[in-house]
Amino acid sequence: MERTFVILKPDCMAQRNVGDIISRFEANDFEIVAAKMAQLSKDLLKTHYAHLTHQPFYPALEEFMTERPVLLLVLEAENAIVRARRLIGPTNPEHAAKNTVRGAFGASTLRNVIHASDSRESAKLEISRFFAETEIFHIEKEEVPAFV
Ligand code: CDP
Ligand code: MG
Repeated sequence: MERTFVILKPDCMAQRNVGDIISRFEANDFEIVAAKMAQLSKDLLKTHYAHLTHQPFYPALEEFMTERPVLLLVLEAENAIVRARRLIGPTNPEHAAKNTVRGAFGASTLRNVIHASDSRESAKLEISRFFAETEIFHIEKEEVPAFV
């Protein structure tokens, strides 16, 4: 099993797309192993998006990501990192298939609904940056009991 780190971004929170997106992951056999809301700080974002701080769009990205609280998730599945990136679609929603999260809900390359780790190394770093080990859980799956 593999873990990936996801942020449901401020646009997703305001547009009430949280449930739809979590359903997509659950329907694809991802387990939620950690979840919390957080108001991200500019300092934390500088670390999370360290590879982008020199980009001309960085001030807009910082502004957007601090607009309101976000939902932070750790999701576990076979091949979770690559499969989550496939489910969310490419960075620019205009290039994303309509059945992907960004294709369905994204407004622009900036306001693109969701973050998911892009490699094993970044998943490991991002999970430990946002969650303590004691905040991560595993819950054994049970089928819905038949109603009698
Ligand atoms: O999120 P993803 O890994 O697909 O893309 P990234 O290159 O790591 O960029 C991180 C985030 O910066 C994106 O998800 C966008 O919100 C934003 N971005 C932007 O506003 N304009 C760009 N040209 C590239 C990224
Ligand atoms: Mg990225």
